[in-house]
Amino acid sequence: MKLCVIGTGYVGLVAGTCLADMGNIVVCVDNNQDKISKLQSGIIPIYEPGLEELIKNNVKEKRLSFSTDLAKAVRESSVCFIAVATPQDIDGSCNLDAVINVAKEIAHNINEYKVIVNKSTVPVGTAEKLSNIIKEITNVPFDVVSNPEFLKQGAAIDDFLSPDRVIIGSDSDKASKIMNDIYSPYFKTSNRIIFMDVKSAEMTKYVANAFLATKISFINEMANICEKVGADIEKVRIGISTDNRIGDKFLFPGIGFGGSCFPKDISALITVAKKITPEARCLKLLKKQI
Ligand SMILES: NC(=O)c1ccc[n+]([C@@H]2O[C@H](COP(=O)([O-])OP(=O)(O)OC[C@H]3O[C@@H](n4cnc5c(N)ncnc54)[C@H](O)[C@@H]3O)[C@@H](O)[C@H]2O)c1
Repeated sequence: MKLCVIGTGYVGLVAGTCLADMGNIVVCVDNNQDKISKLQSGIIPIYEPGLEELIKNNVKEKRLSFSTDLAKAVRESSVCFIAVATPQDIDGSCNLDAVINVAKEIAHNINEYKVIVNKSTVPVGTAEKLSNIIKEITNVPFDVVSNPEFLKQGAAIDDFLSPDRVIIGSDSDKASKIMNDIYSPYFKTSNRIIFMDVKSAEMTKYVANAFLATKISFINEMANICEKVGADIEKVRIGISTDNRIGDKFLFPGIGFGGSCFPKDISALITVAKKITPEARCLKLLKKQI
């Protein structure tokens, strides 16, 4: 299948490379000329174990290329992935400027039916917003799909090639079938592509990040109590994490969570929840964490 990935940052570069590695013809697009020139000459802007070799192999096999020409990439692709940044705005909400700009550029260049796949982390309702923006510009048919990304920096290639699950939010059978064709090669034994409506997929990403962050904050709170009462948090951690219902991930006490996603995603979730259900008790819990 011919695909383009718009936004060749952490997510876009890893996704584009791994999609090419499954036999798709992929062009990774970015409006940063310097980044694209470097990639075209074999300089990889980020370090991820296995990424450089995978890029080189797929470029050599002519399945992967890099470009600043979004118009051409859109015209020649049946599926367009959006993987641009969605930073935190001053009021704590998610800034959608880059996603909206890309949607408009796709709309101006769409020439036949396309699946437009949003990989950026965006608040619930964004796919609908993008659909409406595109429909104002063009009559060419398209579907917008939500396909949130769950990769971990440092293990991004493994996460993409052997995912726990892939979430596809789609309200169109045609688009769902195309997404199934793209992702089923990643599941050799059991198929863990989870199809749902678009809004549920958008929420899944935020709920997953909020839950993981809460686990970290929770164990840190418990570590403080343990210290005061003379208990050993390490022993308590082992004691609880051997319970299958609890599990052993994200339960190491430390300095708290950080990184490029948890704080901004929790802040965006709070902004959405405050508008809809300001009395929600979980809001207090989430607010305390950022
Ligand atoms: N980094 C992670 O670990 C991670 C994990 C899961 C999800 N996400 C989400 O994925 C999305 C992308 O994150 P990232 O870390 O890859 O961002 P990034 O900042 O590394 O990359 C974004 C890229 O998009 C490019 N871009 C911006 N506007 C463009 C346009 N109009 N046309 C073409 N290119 C454009 C930028 O030049 C940049 O190279 C975000 O929503 C983020 O929350 C990130």
